[in-house]
Amino acid sequence: MTEPAPDDVFQLGVRQWRDGDDLVLWHPVTGRHVRLHHGTVARLCAHPGDPRLKPVRDRLDRLHLLRSSPRPPWDALIPCRSRLVLTLPDEAALWLPVPGFRGPGGYGYRALQLSPAAHRVWQHINDARPLSEVADRAGVDLLTAQSLCALLTTPEVQALQLRPTPPRPRDLGLERLVDVPRPPNARPPHLTGPAGETTLTWYHLHGIDDGETHFDDRETTVAHGLGLPHPALGGLRYGAALRDALTRRGLVPEGGLLVEVGCGTGELAAAWQEHGPSKLHYLRADLSPELLRTQARRVPHGHGILADGTRLPLRDGSVDLLVSNEVIADLQAVPVDPAAPDSDAAREALALLHAARITPFAGRTWVNLGAFHLVAEIARVLRPGGAAWLSEFGVLDEPPQEAVQLDHPEVAIQVDHLAAIARHHGLSVSIEPLAELLGMDLTVQQVSRPSWEAVRALAHSRGLRLPARTWSVEALRAHLPFSVEGLRAVPLTDEGPAPLVTRFWSWTLRRPKVPAHGD
Ligand SMILES: C[S@@+](CC[C@H](N)C(=O)[O-])C[C@H]1O[C@@H](n2cnc3c(N)ncnc32)[C@H](O)[C@@H]1O
Repeated sequence: MTEPAPDDVFQLGVRQWRDGDDLVLWHPVTGRHVRLHHGTVARLCAHPGDPRLKPVRDRLDRLHLLRSSPRPPWDALIPCRSRLVLTLPDEAALWLPVPGFRGPGGYGYRALQLSPAAHRVWQHINDARPLSEVADRAGVDLLTAQSLCALLTTPEVQALQLRPTPPRPRDLGLERLVDVPRPPNARPPHLTGPAGETTLTWYHLHGIDDGETHFDDRETTVAHGLGLPHPALGGLRYGAALRDALTRRGLVPEGGLLVEVGCGTGELAAAWQEHGPSKLHYLRADLSPELLRTQARRVPHGHGILADGTRLPLRDGSVDLLVSNEVIADLQAVPVDPAAPDSDAAREALALLHAARITPFAGRTWVNLGAFHLVAEIARVLRPGGAAWLSEFGVLDEPPQEAVQLDHPEVAIQVDHLAAIARHHGLSVSIEPLAELLGMDLTVQQVSRPSWEAVRALAHSRGLRLPARTWSVEALRAHLPFSVEGLRAVPLTDEGPAPLVTRFWSWTLRRPKVPAHGD
């Protein structure tokens, strides 16, 4: 028996391409695909009737990908729109992400002009109507509707899929582009040191060149997203909600010195002091000269200094309250293998873990050495009875991971390790999810991340800047000077313009009033 060529096995026109060890098979009209190990496909081509391959054949049949598969029931298939696509109603055009083209701010986007008939078909698609009904309503015959849809289902466009059933409410298949795994962004080599440790001093001193747009276009923080009065925070801005939460816990003194380490654009400082100056002097310490200039424009009270939070130019016991929001993942993280530490930083990290009675993870994993240094510095500068508050994205019972989507490396904080280091320095610690500390209403809706990235790219293409806020769809639409359809809302437990708040933790550290026995 001669071995069948792939064309004898797969439906005519099926697109195939290799992605690592996988082969992607893409139906040319439905826009649906399957990803299989290339060895499985080779076995299927060599032995199409092999009974062990029945589950694979069944899956391929459901997607109509095999020569022998049943024909798609065209009239009954339901066209479903990709959640990444926006409609520009005034121009009869779609606004589409370009597969394979992704940078720190998201996908590159392009406009796709629709013919009048294609525009009518698109307008009648609602993720529930079968193609025959869409065709009727658009005033075209089924074959025309089918071929217009086929223009939008190619791997290069990915605006539409023809499915046998309506999508589930959070159907990830419509929220991602295929075969475009989010690649780690290219980063300059000097952001990591010789032992693989992250070193962002250069990045903060010189790499941030536009403080006004940095947190809108390059890295958005939770505080920046929630920098406007927000319903999830009872109508408060993030900084004000934090001030109130820490005040309720008795951590905010009436006077003295408050130091904020790493202030970004000064959102937190500005909201904290929204009622004007108080007896509490607000000192901003930041490593970025550009961001210090931006803060000076936005924050009327207190003052800022260029300083490294891990080496503050402050006297021992001189600080009443220190806060640092979303900074510690920027501090040095070091890859450490406890069985074979291969750098001075790794040996120092191991020594600190041992001193704090932390059992290191086995194998080579990240250790948040810079965050440990900051905690040591906090223990030095806090006055007895003083407090510090930190927040960052973190992991509870696994080794920290690096966030790969930014233009610089940031490493999640190991929640318990940081707490153990703080205790080792004589501080008491309480840990809780950030959303819980702030009493956030996580059911509040926001514009989804894909919609946000699309609309921001659209605004940029028209020379407009959009602040990266945790907008509701309605507020964003009202803000836009052009009309756009297809913006989707998701709750705060889902990805929106800012990082996922449910990944964030809060550490409250207190220095005892009376030194512990033996100190
Ligand atoms: C991710 S941003 C967070 C900004 C702000 N706190 C917010 O939540 O929007 C990190 C900030 O910390 C500053 N930073 C980074 N490393 C620092 C260090 N070692 N010492 C002081 N500031 C630092 C950066 O310049 C930037 O302002």
